[in-house]
This record gives sequence, structure tokens and C-alpha cells, in this order.
Amino acid sequence: MPPSYDIQRSWEENCLHGPRLDASPPLVPATPMKQFLGLPVRSRLGIAAGLLLNSRWIGPYARLGFDLLTYKTVRSAARPCHPLPNWVFVDDVSPPDGPVVVRTMPADPAQASSSVCFGMPSIAPGEWRPDVRRARQSLESGQLLIVSVVGTPGADPSLEALADDFAHCAAWAAAAGAQVVEANLSCPNVCSAEGTLYHDHQASRLVAERIRAAIGPVPLLLKVGTFASPLALRGFLQTVDGLASGVTLVNCISRPVLRADGQAAFGEAFRMAGVMGRAIHQPAVAAVRAARHCVESDRLGLAIAAVGGVAGVEDIADFFQAGADAVLCGSAPMYMPNLAIEAKMARPDW
Ligand SMILES: Cc1cc2nc3c(=O)[nH]c(=O)nc-3n(C[C@H](O)[C@H](O)[C@H](O)COP(=O)(O)O)c2cc1C
Repeated sequence: MPPSYDIQRSWEENCLHGPRLDASPPLVPATPMKQFLGLPVRSRLGIAAGLLLNSRWIGPYARLGFDLLTYKTVRSAARPCHPLPNWVFVDDVSPPDGPVVVRTMPADPAQASSSVCFGMPSIAPGEWRPDVRRARQSLESGQLLIVSVVGTPGADPSLEALADDFAHCAAWAAAAGAQVVEANLSCPNVCSAEGTLYHDHQASRLVAERIRAAIGPVPLLLKVGTFASPLALRGFLQTVDGLASGVTLVNCISRPVLRADGQAAFGEAFRMAGVMGRAIHQPAVAAVRAARHCVESDRLGLAIAAVGGVAGVEDIADFFQAGADAVLCGSAPMYMPNLAIEAKMARPDW
């Protein structure tokens, strides 16, 4: 099968026509129920914000055994996608933080690293609110719909206004059926304030406060990237504890993304772009281990949803061993759609 997302076509076309998936996939093994964020789930395995563009994508991936399904980040107003290319495979030629270079998809997809530059596009609330409802209706019991939201800086440049915009989206998402709301405080591919909010702990707290007031008891995850130091991570977790229910870490890691001729793959404005897949697995596991350490040592009430370079059962095991409460795949389900089925066969206890 070709990958489910067609990287040669626009994001809008993928929204309308995707995903490309096998019409008769293997059976999903039955698994005993567990809990995540206090809610009953068939497994603590899922898909992070990004690949599941809308309800057309959520239902089919839920039927492939992913049980925590994140509806791609949405905004309070429509936002177009950056021009193509939006998604390229890369070679990690200079780890851990030097440039990566565009290549074709590797023969072994488990080794794939890639980079995206979409700019957090969104359809209008008038479209996504009913679509979130459809997505929720497509899930079985024991599956959770997480809706990722982001605030958009507007005419009023204050942080208060941005926090209120986050809260607005969160309330709409919860009203439409989100069982969990995720606030995206990190995106390497936007140039405005919402892309790096998590570096400002007090700003993150304000956003979490406003969202909490807007959604009441609905669980709230905060999506973050990597931190400059263990101290910064610890400060963040301490600051949002009591407001957020958990953290999702990590988002893509920002690195120079170049073509073979040395030019920026997504154009000069986005020379630095988000890298994902194999190249970020070890840093993501380290971040989860450090977060678990803080949660234990400071007795914080935060769950940890781990993301970063999961492309096989061993990668998932790495995250659970590092202290994750749930494991999400970002890019791999695009070219490895049966990942949850394989994981459930190996480890029904996950
Ligand atoms: C196509 C695509 C789009 C993404 N868009 C978003 C997004 O809108 N919001 C977000 O929080 N993360 C987004 N991400 C990041 C993923 O949620 C995840 O953090 C990242 O891909 C790392 O996981 P991976 O190494 O398993 O791919 C996107 C990822 C992909 C593959």
C-alpha cells in the first residue's frame, strides 16, 4: 500500500480524499480494559495531533486499533496551509541537532525520519465543530477522542487575548464531544507567539487556567516540545500542575531541513522546521524519563503521554519503561497503519 497521506498533494486534498488505507486490514486483537486520565480505554496506544486531519481519518484509524485518537490542531478561524512541500523524508546526517537532508522514503519504514511544515492550518470552526461530533460518533467504547486546539494571535496582541482564544476553542471542542482537550503550546513551523508558548511558564499557566475555567472537569493535556534543561522542564511541570491533567511530549524537534543542494527544503523562512520519526526517538524517551522523574519527586498530578519516533513494539516499550502513561505515534501510522495491531498482539496489557 502507498502511505495513507499523499505528500505530493495538498493538505486540503488529503483532508477531502484521504486516507489511503487497505480495505481489508488484519483483525484487531481484543485487549483488556485499562485507564488513561481516569477514562476506560482498550489500550493506551494512539495517534498524536497531525495525521488525523478530520473525521474521515479518525474512524478508519480507530478501526485499526488505535484507541487514543487526536483530532488535528484546530483554531478559532480558518487558516490556510503553507504551500507544498509540506512533508518530506529526511536523512539524519548530523545528529543530534545539525541539518537533516531530504531523501526518498527508506526501504525500512521503521527507520524513517521526516519533517513537516504545514503551519498549523485549520478549517473554520463552523466546519470543525460538527466534524468533531462526527469523529466522536465513529469511535467505539474504550476509545478516546482528544481534540488538539491552539490559540491564534489576533488584533489584540495581549497574552490574555491569546489565552481566551485557546479557551474558546477548547470549550467548542468539549461541547462537540472531545473527551480530552489538548492545548498545543509548541509548533516549530509557525512564526508567531503560539509556536513556542511552553517556554514561558507563566504564559502556559495562564492558558491552562483559562482553558480549565472553560472546560470544567474535561481532562486537559498540554503539548510541549523539548526543554533547554531539566530545570526548565521541572519548572514548567510545577507551574501547570493542578490545572492540566497531563502533558504530551514531545512535538517535532526543530532542525535545519535542507535539500541535497543545500537549499532550505521548505523555503528560507522555514529553514528550521520540525523533525520527527527515528531521529527524535532517543531525545523523546529522555524527555519522558525526565518528566516522570519530576512527577514522582515533586508528587505532581500530571499524566504523561509520550510521542516521538515510535515505529515498532520496542519503541513503545522504551516509552512505557521510561514512565509514560500512554504512547502516541505521530508520523509512523502514515506508512505503518497496522502498528497498533502489531503492538496489541505482542502486548495486550498495553
Ligand atoms: C503530518 C503531521 C502534522 C502534524 N501537525 C501537528 C499539529 O497540528 N499539532 C501538534 O501538536 N503536533 C503536530 N504534529 C506533531 C506530532 O503530533 C508529533 O509530536 C511528532 O510527529 C513527533 O512524533 P513522531 O516522531 O512519532 O512522528 C504533526 C505531525 C505530523 C506527522
